[in-house]
Parts: sequence; structure tokens; C-alpha cells
Amino acid sequence: MAAPEDGPVVVTGAAGGIGLEYARAFAAQGRPVALCDRDDRVLDVAADGMLGVVADVSDEDSVDAAFTRIEREFGAPTVLVNNAALFVDLPFTGWRDIDVATWDRVMAVNLRGPFLCARRALPGMTSAGAGRIVNISSTTAHVGGHQRLHYAASKAGVIGFTRALAREVGVAGVTVNAVAPGSTQSEGVLERYPRDVLDNAVAVRAIPRAAVPADLVGAVLFLASDAASFITGQTIIVDGGHVFR
Ligand SMILES: NC(=O)c1ccc[n+]([C@@H]2O[C@H](COP(=O)([O-])OP(=O)(O)OC[C@H]3O[C@@H](n4cnc5c(N)ncnc54)[C@H](O)[C@@H]3O)[C@@H](O)[C@H]2O)c1
Repeated sequence: MAAPEDGPVVVTGAAGGIGLEYARAFAAQGRPVALCDRDDRVLDVAADGMLGVVADVSDEDSVDAAFTRIEREFGAPTVLVNNAALFVDLPFTGWRDIDVATWDRVMAVNLRGPFLCARRALPGMTSAGAGRIVNISSTTAHVGGHQRLHYAASKAGVIGFTRALAREVGVAGVTVNAVAPGSTQSEGVLERYPRDVLDNAVAVRAIPRAAVPADLVGAVLFLASDAASFITGQTIIVDGGHVFR
């Protein structure tokens, strides 16, 4: 099996937005990249060297079928980027008005999803003695969100998931880290976010400009690389200097 540095990569939630940016960056390194998304646009955006797979990360059978297909095409993945989330599709809702079904759905996609994908990817990584898992959290885990209590709670959960899994799989040569983006102007955000919310996000930064998906790529590539082989359980905040910790 290939080393994490040059083996197959899986990016979830890669039909568009920031996930597609990650996928293209790995593909530019000449690596085989599988893009998984519940949105079948993923089949159109997968270019040469990429495999588009329609899958629901919250569903065990769907995740299993996706990984079986990826393993058949590329071999066992050495890198998993858990990026899929209910995010731009989630309406802004105050805490009183979040219904239980929506709460559960957010947890199913944003927390169960990374668990199911990591659980399916890990046997290949541990048997090779090497692997990289990068989970996408959010600065809302630290500062709260704009009428998205369920989302902020799920992204805080991603940090705990990252730390706990890192403790268990380090012995097998697998690192597990997280990247927490601040407000980033992905296509969905630009379509749906009120202008004042975007402007406020810029105003609180040490580097006062809008973030674009490309701003997040470096942290993900680094954590997936050999240069980060002794870093695990960590969360890198990429937000232009809003949250310091
Ligand atoms: N854009 C931001 O401001 C920002 C800030 C912090 C964190 N993030 C995180 O970065 C990631 C990408 O953000 P984005 O702006 O591109 O968001 P987005 O909502 O445009 O992208 C999410 C992707 O996940 C996919 N997805 C949703 N449910 C799925 C499921 N059940 N199975 C498979 N795929 C599913 C969607 O189809 C979509 O392609 C998300 O994890 C988000 O929470 C974004």
C-alpha cells in the first residue's frame, strides 16, 4: 500500500464548495482522489484522476458501498478528509425553534458521518501502518454560530471525536487532526448569507479580508502530508486571526 504522502485520497462533501477545492488540490499533486457527496453533481465535477461517488455519509451501507468502490478503483485510501456537513443547506433557526428531527439529522451527517467514514477507512490504514484523517470542524465550535446551535454543537463534537480517535489509532501509525475554518466565502455561503454577516466576519479578523476556499487548502494538505507525521489530535484554526487558542 502507498504511504499517506502519495496514496489514494477520499474527500467527502466534494460536489462543490470547499470540499471540491481540497479534492482538486490533492489531484494537482498527482494523487488518485475520490469525491463523495450525496449530491450527484459530484459525478460531473470529477475530472481526470478523480472518481465521483454518490454517497450519504450518514448511512452505514452507503458509506460501505462507496469505500468498496473506491478500494476497487484505487486501492485502500491513505487519506480521508471528512468535509461533508449539513451547513449551507441548514436554515438559520433560533434555539427555541430547532425541532428534534433537524437536530438529529445535523448530528447524523456532521458527527455520525465522520465516524462512519473513519471506521470504514481505518482497517486499510491500520493494516498498512499509516494513514491520515483530517476532520473539518468550524470556529463556531469556539465562538458559537449565527442561529445554528445544532451546527455549532456538531462541530464542537468533531473536535472531541478528533482527539479521542487520535488517542486510539496513533499506535497504528494513523494521525487524526481537524481544521476549523472561520467564515469562508464558498459558493453556497455567497448565495445564502446576508451581506452584514459576511462583513462582520471580516471585521473581527487580524487579517481583515474575506476568506475563500483556497485559504483552507494549505492546512489540509499539510496535515495529510509526511511533514505532519508527528502531529495528532490537534485542531488548526484557519480564520485570518479571529479565534486565538
Ligand atoms: N464556508 C464556511 O464559512 C465554513 C466555515 C466553517 C466550517 N465550514 C465547513 O467546511 C465544510 C465545507 O463547507 P462549504 O461552505 O463548502 O459547505 P457546503 O454546505 O457547500 O458543502 C457541504 C457539502 O457536503 C455535502 N453533504 C451534505 N450532506 C451530506 C451527506 N449526508 N452525505 C454526503 N455529502 C453530504 C453537500 O452536498 C455539500 O456538497 C463543511 O464541513 C462546513 O461545515 C465551512
